[in-house]
Amino acid sequence: MVKIAVLGCGTVGGGVFKLIKQNANDIEQRIGQKVEVKKVLERDADKAHSIGVTTELCTSYDEILQDDEIKIIVELIGGTEFAYDCIIKAIEAGKNVVTANKDLLAIKGEEIFSLAKQKGVDICFEASVAGSIPIIGPMQNVLCANTFSAIVGILNGTTNYILTKMNDFGLSYEEALKQAADLGYAEANPSSDVEGTDAARKIAILGSLAFNSRCTLSNVYCEGITKIVEKDIILAKKLGYTIKLIGMAKEKDDKIILFVRPTFVPMSHPLASVNDVFNAVFLKCDAADEIMLYGRGAGEMPTASSVVGDVMTICNSIANNTTGQHGLDCYKQKEILPIGELESSFCLRLRVADKPNVLAGIASELGNRGVSIESVIQSPVPDVDMASLTIITHKAKEQALQDAISSLKEKEYVEKAYIFMCLDKTN
Ligand code: NDP
Ligand code: HSE
Repeated sequence: MVKIAVLGCGTVGGGVFKLIKQNANDIEQRIGQKVEVKKVLERDADKAHSIGVTTELCTSYDEILQDDEIKIIVELIGGTEFAYDCIIKAIEAGKNVVTANKDLLAIKGEEIFSLAKQKGVDICFEASVAGSIPIIGPMQNVLCANTFSAIVGILNGTTNYILTKMNDFGLSYEEALKQAADLGYAEANPSSDVEGTDAARKIAILGSLAFNSRCTLSNVYCEGITKIVEKDIILAKKLGYTIKLIGMAKEKDDKIILFVRPTFVPMSHPLASVNDVFNAVFLKCDAADEIMLYGRGAGEMPTASSVVGDVMTICNSIANNTTGQHGLDCYKQKEILPIGELESSFCLRLRVADKPNVLAGIASELGNRGVSIESVIQSPVPDVDMASLTIITHKAKEQALQDAISSLKEKEYVEKAYIFMCLDKTN
């Protein structure tokens, strides 16, 4: 019997209790021993009882730390303060840890993983990226012979749910966000979903794993979905794209670039058909070439699937006396490039005065910086002598485009100018 403690009886904690109970017999057969939740830490007793917790609740975390029978602590509280203390103290007490806490790992990963290694305990975190999708395990195990060059993903269930509902069903942003929160997909503070921070944390974790070099939240260029307007969605559709919040980590010449941003994804790209709460991670590597993993990116039972899987992995490590092997060691130090170094094609959206020489002025601002135009669509804005311009560029450096936009914004004929990155197979 392996005895564990669970911290937090919210959405994911609730799923973990259900799954351990529901599949108890198979879990025991597969790992050769029973898993028992011996202690629970949750400040809201009613919440714990409502999800079927019968174990007495601890009044302090020390009760768990001091219990020598508890070998694994499952941290499902979230946040970076109390959860940080819990994880550090667990490792110091020689306990193995399972966590879904990307907030913490994306900023304190180095400290947590090196302490775990030093103390010879496992720290497993499959649920921290893309909910139910097995991505950490495959990258660390069956794909570990590969050199990775890029990871592109839809890494946040809440925003993908919102974009799908806005795109396919015409729901308002507010209605769609409320539904995602009611379904348990959103973070305690959903601004981290919609501002892109949650996906940025996940791409930092995946970047660290893929390139063996520590990437943190502060290394990720991040834009959320709050500025997308209905007109952008309609335009993308007309041009054969769909807008997705894309996270990407790519390596070139030993340097890494990481970002999260709303992106025009061509309908022919496999990521375009990933909808609702589903996430997908597209990997490019030297031997396996291209792989895409797909599944539910958030929610009670999908996330519990990853958490309980990690608990079972550690049970096997304990049985084989091999703890201390699961973590995220980074043995290289690679330079992080600023977003201006990104090369891609872009969709430039402008609202401009509808008069002579405007198009020529814009073309020359772009051309002078080496940005070549692939196509232009102009449509009049009714009643105001303005025009809406959509310019798709050929592949260009983002810095060149940003410089052109800064200069264009100074012109009296430009009212608005912003870009979307366009994804293609070469990104
Ligand atoms: P919830 O907010 O639903 O659950 C967290 C639970 O922890 C709440 O019951 C909360 O109680 C309790 N808690 C918070 N602080 C303390 C404390 N100091 N002492 C005791 N209990 C405390 O969050 P989720 O279950 O959604 O998320 C948990 C973790 O999993 C987070 O790190 C999240 O990012 C991650 N995650 C979530 C996914 C999802 O789909 N929801 C998917 C993947 C990862 P109270 O309500 O009283 O504050
Ligand atoms: N809030 C997150 C999401 C939970 O919507 O993807 C899963 O990490």
